[in-house]
Amino acid sequence: MDKLYHIVTYGCQMNVHESEKIAGILSELGYSSTEDMERADIVVFNTCCIRENAENHAYGNIGMLKKLKARNKNMLIAVGGCLTQQINKADDLHEKFPYVDIIFGTHNLNKLKEYILAKRLQKKAVIKIEECDGRIDEGDKPLRTSYPNAWVNITYGCNNFCTYCIVPYVRGRERSRKSQDIIAEVKELVADGYKEITLLGQNVNSYGNGGADIPFYELLEKLAAIEGKFRIRFMTSHPKDFSEELAKVMAGNSKICNCLHLPVQSGSDSILKAMNRRYSSEDYLKKVEILKKYIPDCAITTDLIVGFPGESEKDFEDTLELVKKVDFASAFTFVYSPREGTKAAEMPEQVDGEISKRRIMKLIELVNSQTRAHSALFVGKQVEVLCEGYDEKRNAYMGRSEHGRMVYFGCSENKIGEFVTVKINEANGISLIGEII
Ligand code: SAH
Ligand code: SF4
Ligand code: F3S
Repeated sequence: MDKLYHIVTYGCQMNVHESEKIAGILSELGYSSTEDMERADIVVFNTCCIRENAENHAYGNIGMLKKLKARNKNMLIAVGGCLTQQINKADDLHEKFPYVDIIFGTHNLNKLKEYILAKRLQKKAVIKIEECDGRIDEGDKPLRTSYPNAWVNITYGCNNFCTYCIVPYVRGRERSRKSQDIIAEVKELVADGYKEITLLGQNVNSYGNGGADIPFYELLEKLAAIEGKFRIRFMTSHPKDFSEELAKVMAGNSKICNCLHLPVQSGSDSILKAMNRRYSSEDYLKKVEILKKYIPDCAITTDLIVGFPGESEKDFEDTLELVKKVDFASAFTFVYSPREGTKAAEMPEQVDGEISKRRIMKLIELVNSQTRAHSALFVGKQVEVLCEGYDEKRNAYMGRSEHGRMVYFGCSENKIGEFVTVKINEANGISLIGEII
């Protein structure tokens, strides 16, 4: 019988795709996947540390494995990802959870096979964290798990050092893959039948800054020129690097979805400065104007943080004001979480938790009303949906519209992997419900 693996993923799309790379390594070693953690011969936690609750979530789940491991001594437990890459965290983790067998970081995921083989020969835990050496490994063979969607890395790391953010410390300096490698990967995916390609990078707009051959908008043009019916999405765009050329390329290529995730974080200029975002609220609004000039129906989404150190009531009001002006299709809202080692964590004026809570509730209310209004605009319209799966609970197929809205629809045939036209009858918060035509 095959040995079984179970991977638990926390954090962003980048991590979701890296879990596919981990799955690729495990399947090479003869493991196959199980949904049931109790039956697994190896459990891998691919962790995140963007906010304290992401870390706590992982700690809680690793802690729960103690009993399972006591029952099944042969079970291997591996922990990797952003959490372990933080200074001293691997040792802390080993101390807290001595039954964890393998601890690795973000820069040596490709050596997991070696570590598993080493662990089989020794009793001691294998703890290996490496620093970023700037290399890009083109050898990974991810085991993709999200057909008809596929993720493709275009950059790794981040150079921006937003003062609240841990990512530059755990993901290293920004590096771009060669355009020919990206184009070859996307061509292969399209030939294999994938219908939606999402390009991944902490800051895709700065693709090429580290010496890659072509700028991001040119890469997009080349990808959009690949034959076949498929969609292109990308994330995340940093507003400071968002250019008019990019808006033109998005408008001029029907394969590139008319939606853009453009995290603004705050609407207050002094907070944006303290965050080291390198744009003002006016700069941001100008970029939005450019985008809307070329793509009037573009769905703009964002990330917002409340309770950044020093945020006054007036700063928060500025955020509400900006959100009202832009009218986002949807937004992720976060309470600021101090991350050890970042500049903001050392700032003296940390905001009281109760104040942040009140602010986020107010912000969520505003964002939700915008989301609902955007959804309502689709009622009575026909949208093209890429069918991604079947929702057992709703007894309906589901997929995304070009604008990124989740759409549910009834259908007697299996449409997974196909583009279908759906007439929207109802809007339900962020999702839409309709019928196939
Ligand atoms: N590279 C992307 C996003 C990375 S993290 C970008 O620059 O947009 C995703 C989101 O998490 C960020 O946009 C930010 O809103 C949020 N975030 C990052 N660090 C945080 C922290 N310390 N506390 C709260 N939210 C944070
Ligand atoms: Fe973090 Fe800023 Fe880099 Fe995004 S751009 S990953 S928020 S440092
Ligand atoms: Fe992503 Fe979390 Fe790391 S958001 S880059 S997995 S810290």
